[in-house]
Amino acid sequence: MAGHKGLVGSAIVRCLKNNGYNNIIERTRKELDLLEQNATEYFFKNEKPDLVIIAAAKVGGIFANSTQPAEFLYQNLMIQNNIIYYSHKYNVKKLLFLGSACIYPKLANQPIVENELLSGFLEPTNEAYAIAKIAGIKLCEGYFNQYDKNFLSLMPNNLYGPNDNFDLVTSHVIPALMNKFHTAKQKSKKSVTIWGTGNPLREFLHVDDLANAILFVMEKINAKEIYEKGISHINVGSGFEISIRDLAIIIKEVTGFNGELYFDISKPDGTPRKLLDDTILKQKGWHARISLHDGLRDVYSWFQKNN
Ligand SMILES: NC(=O)c1ccc[n+]([C@@H]2O[C@H](COP(=O)([O-])OP(=O)(O)OC[C@H]3O[C@@H](n4cnc5c(N)ncnc54)[C@H](OP(=O)(O)O)[C@@H]3O)[C@@H](O)[C@H]2O)c1
Repeated sequence: MAGHKGLVGSAIVRCLKNNGYNNIIERTRKELDLLEQNATEYFFKNEKPDLVIIAAAKVGGIFANSTQPAEFLYQNLMIQNNIIYYSHKYNVKKLLFLGSACIYPKLANQPIVENELLSGFLEPTNEAYAIAKIAGIKLCEGYFNQYDKNFLSLMPNNLYGPNDNFDLVTSHVIPALMNKFHTAKQKSKKSVTIWGTGNPLREFLHVDDLANAILFVMEKINAKEIYEKGISHINVGSGFEISIRDLAIIIKEVTGFNGELYFDISKPDGTPRKLLDDTILKQKGWHARISLHDGLRDVYSWFQKNN
């Protein structure tokens, strides 16, 4: 389990343990820096894991992505190349690589089906990250095509949940807004400023739902049936989309902030709409269970306890 301390990784560990899987190998970044090729090989050679889930990555919101393209491209390529290559070399039986919905073209047809991959230009603000993720998908597909490896990729839409990064500079929209509203309430501020027009539509998935989907895929779906459909990965989302403006209104209510909302239209909006078509997972019998309202309340109470 790579990246077990992160937002997604910690949810996967919770889910695996709740479902009776206790033989989980975890390493902190201090113990194993996945950017290091030799250290990664040493780990695989000695531990010989049967199953690998890659939730380790350099992750961030629009600001971090658009100001650090070199780090997003280099670190993500290194981490995933090291893990996927040594999983191949040391005979891992099944590997799941986690990408993100930003692999799709900026103006992809909506809801986005898996075959929209590489059908148009990427959103410039996260192009470096997306290119690294696309390379990871193609590496898994390559190991399947050439060596019949059971390596496959899952593309979640925007995620949120406990253990998220609430830093105002590097975080995604939900933790950033929650932190902003919470701080504004505490400091009795009259208003909160939100990046962009508020118009973009987004789909959000609670990490506990994602972890459940990951377990579902690990137990029930093999690479062969995905690649045989002519696609290179599987989408996973909640199926529910909301504008950033409406999201902000819910978070305002959840945090109890009473002031005004201002939209700073000088800041980038990112992709106008991003809704994933998750027919494949639904047809196999999986669907998300946590509503956005319930999920946001859950995250805010986690934030209050842990902030
Ligand atoms: N967050 C989202 O909205 C979202 C949406 C779609 C897809 N995803 C995907 O889900 C996956 C996990 O994302 P996340 O949100 O859970 O990110 P996260 O909270 O930042 O967690 C990433 C994890 O990777 C570890 N890591 C990073 N660099 C490492 C290195 N060089 N060596 C060892 N460990 C390293 C981090 O360790 P430290 O704790 O030491 O930093 C952390 O545990 C990523 O592939 C991401 O693309 C995320």
